[in-house]
Amino acid sequence: MAMERTLAIVKPDAFGRGLSGEIVSRIQKAGFQVVAIKSLRLTKKEAEGFYAVHAARPFFGELTEFMSSGKVVVLALEAEGAILKWRDTMGATDPAKAAPGTIRRDLGTSIGSNCTHGSDAPETAAFELGYFFAGYELI
Ligand code: RTP
Ligand code: MG
Repeated sequence: MAMERTLAIVKPDAFGRGLSGEIVSRIQKAGFQVVAIKSLRLTKKEAEGFYAVHAARPFFGELTEFMSSGKVVVLALEAEGAILKWRDTMGATDPAKAAPGTIRRDLGTSIGSNCTHGSDAPETAAFELGYFFAGYELI
């Protein structure tokens, strides 16, 4: 399998509950290399730009309100097959349907407050990594 990078976000629900450390620890135990990490708070507009692919979905307003409601941690992760591997580590979107031992199952509280984000394909990973990190931060 090829070395790959993906973007992970610790969402405001998890950051606000003091779970950032626990989630970064799970990321490292799962075998990802943390290439870059920073904390920031998105404006509503920045959240809308990030989730632009979901602009037509009924939950877009709720999602972008939520993503701009508090601080987040964004991480550039590297591993073999990182995109799928991180989605497996997070678990299914709805914590109630996520497999036991996944972050969303163990720590998530609802489909909206599901603790983490992960890129879903190579093209979205490239867009999302570039949304948050400059080239020199990803060396
Ligand atoms: P993410 O992009 O955050 O990693 O989540 P995902 O790929 O598992 O799910 P996606 O379909 O991309 O949806 C993005 C986020 O929108 C919220 N959502 N709410 N109310 C709903 O039916 C609904 N569906 C999705 C979730 O918080 C999801 O993570
Ligand atoms: Mg998604």
